[in-house]
Amino acid sequence: MNKSIILIGVFLTLLSCGRDVTDEKGWSRYRGDDGINAYSPLSQINKSNVQHLQVAWTYRTGDFTDFSKIECNPIIISGVLYGVSAKMKVFALEADTGREIWVYDPFEPGSKESGFNRGLTYWEDGDDKRILVGAKNKLIALNALTGKPFPDFGENGFVDLRKNLRSDTDFENYDVTNTSPGVVFEDLIIVGSSLRENYEALSGDIRAYDVRTGKMRWTFHTLPHPGEFGYDTWSEDSYKNIGGANAWAGVSIDRRRGLVFAATGAPAFDFHGGERKGQNLFANCVIALDAASGKYVWHFQTSHHDLWDYDLPTPPNLTTIRKDGKDIDAVVQLTKQGLIFMLDRDTGKPIYPVEERVVPSSGLADESTWPTQPFPAKPLPLTRTTFDESIITDISPEAHDFIKTEAGKYSWGSIYQPPSLQGIIQLPGFRGGAEWSGGAIDQETGILFVGLNDIPNIVQLVAEGNDKENLSGQPLIEVGSRIYHTKCTACHGEDRKGNPGFPSLVDLSNRMKSDNALHILKNGQRNMPAFTELSEEQLTAVVSFLFDINKDQTYQSEEPIRTTLAGKPMRYRIKGYKQLLDADGYPGIKPPWGTLCALDLNSTEIKWRVPLGEYPDLVAKGIRNTGTQLFGGGIVTQGGLVFIGASQDEKFRAFDKDSGEVLWEYQLPAGGYATPATYDIDGTQYVVIAAGGGGFQGTKTSDHYIAFSLK
Ligand code: HEC
Repeated sequence: MNKSIILIGVFLTLLSCGRDVTDEKGWSRYRGDDGINAYSPLSQINKSNVQHLQVAWTYRTGDFTDFSKIECNPIIISGVLYGVSAKMKVFALEADTGREIWVYDPFEPGSKESGFNRGLTYWEDGDDKRILVGAKNKLIALNALTGKPFPDFGENGFVDLRKNLRSDTDFENYDVTNTSPGVVFEDLIIVGSSLRENYEALSGDIRAYDVRTGKMRWTFHTLPHPGEFGYDTWSEDSYKNIGGANAWAGVSIDRRRGLVFAATGAPAFDFHGGERKGQNLFANCVIALDAASGKYVWHFQTSHHDLWDYDLPTPPNLTTIRKDGKDIDAVVQLTKQGLIFMLDRDTGKPIYPVEERVVPSSGLADESTWPTQPFPAKPLPLTRTTFDESIITDISPEAHDFIKTEAGKYSWGSIYQPPSLQGIIQLPGFRGGAEWSGGAIDQETGILFVGLNDIPNIVQLVAEGNDKENLSGQPLIEVGSRIYHTKCTACHGEDRKGNPGFPSLVDLSNRMKSDNALHILKNGQRNMPAFTELSEEQLTAVVSFLFDINKDQTYQSEEPIRTTLAGKPMRYRIKGYKQLLDADGYPGIKPPWGTLCALDLNSTEIKWRVPLGEYPDLVAKGIRNTGTQLFGGGIVTQGGLVFIGASQDEKFRAFDKDSGEVLWEYQLPAGGYATPATYDIDGTQYVVIAAGGGGFQGTKTSDHYIAFSLK
């Protein structure tokens, strides 16, 4: 690193009076700034020269696997880039050369453990410079200069995020991770969490820890306890045995007001709410909290009593919008439903009217759907919000006929069609409109740029049987098959062939030993949960089923198959995380399936909208501009550009922010399913993106971080 970088670093340190750091020329926070607006004031790379953009450096993390992914939006402070690898190693690079400074592996050497993470958080006070990062159940503080963990942070050098939630005695049976980075406020790190979304989830409390000691300083119960506001919006004592309502996408912060903003997910179990009757505050809510104390300030709920996995997928954007000639500090909340809620930042009141519309009620005897749901008058929904025959795919007569027959098996008609045993077609599906990739807001013009998915899901419930049954004496393989069909099909499919993002388990024995599979079941691996509620014999049973071994053995114990940890009955499960796809695997509605949209938040009108990505096999047949499913955010610069990867054709593109025209594109070695960052070092502007592929897109995986500049 050259001297001037160090000097800039020192200068910024002096300016920042400790605590959080803002590096105007860097990218000092997840998604760029406190309001997560992914906006950069840099303009060296601009509309007139972007076509000359070239690779400045490439860094390979060297640790990708068939199922890894990189969702990390790196941060760049004082000339150093901090990122996360395909297997969750944290690293620091010289941001102008890509040369490695340090690497820290949060897992034991040789460990099969891994995870993913969307970013990290920086804090400093004088010489004490820290990187705060989540790794599986841990929150770790690393010395930013050396990559070494602070041994006196938390207990033994980390905070165990599973503690201080429900019970500290059996916390080891649960999963609580921090996949999106927290924000720093003075000497606090404020975090949401990612949890299981099944019957055995913990609650998604929002928590603040002391940056120096790791001590928990406050907690906000997203499932209220007795006496707390919102307690009566649930069945009695829900806080003890219902989970979810977690801000998995992270939080944003308004330092001047001292407010932290979280957007929470659905309550668990995602698709059935018979155990949690009521409106269910603070699930699916935008929540404003006092950043210093965690005290409730206001909330706004975007779906009541959620049965659709309509988690709020991105932290609230904080920006200023102009309405009737007046500037209003706003909170802009994007949703998976394609609806956008714009709220007053001080009060949480909608800036445009929000109407509570009557929606269909559930036919399930033990469900009680909430009678109405909120719809903003403006802006209009950014995606199609109801399935009907007029939008069935038209890419070929065969695809059309296939979907027509397939759709005939299910019910549809409302964005809030309740899940049922027959099955519903859900549009938008639970992987879009907007996703964790979020929106970028141009701070000069108030225009929001967001990648949107327009792909339906099939949600079909299956009633669960008796989990008290004594199975002793039955063939081990049959017990294994039962376990597989209760616990594994949602992700790996009834036919074991997998779903996008979830591997096929057919011919497993060609890829791994049964012991490896047992290890994965016990410990989990990335998006694959650990099955701690199953006994050793039950785990052996399911592995026997998968590998077709131990055929002559019988199940010995009388232990029933526990469906949940808390011993609650599991009433329903989802048949599969399925999308409505044609026989070739393309979405069952007319394209475009993935678009980049520019919405003027001041006028609430769409300025332009273009399909994002193509499928080479369809292009070969002359079917173009379909867009693909998108994961990965865009950023907007003063240079007049929107940079975004996200699409399944694995390209990284620069769009003209005024017209939506593609001005430059680059074929990445694997999908850029992450948010890029841009920064300046010594007068050179760089744009960097992680190309890790995989994830829910199911395309090839890799381990690249690639930086571009003009040269
Ligand atoms: C919530 C979704 C989900 C559920 C439920 C789930 N899995 Fe998985 N599973 C995954 C994902 C995702 C992976 C890939 C993990 C990775 O990224 O390494 C995986 C990987 C695996 C693998 C390793 C496959 C390989 O080729 O490396 C096995 C074996 C497996 N799962 C078995 C099971 C069994 C058995 C069950 C039920 C007891 C189950 N899974 C339930 C999501 C799930």
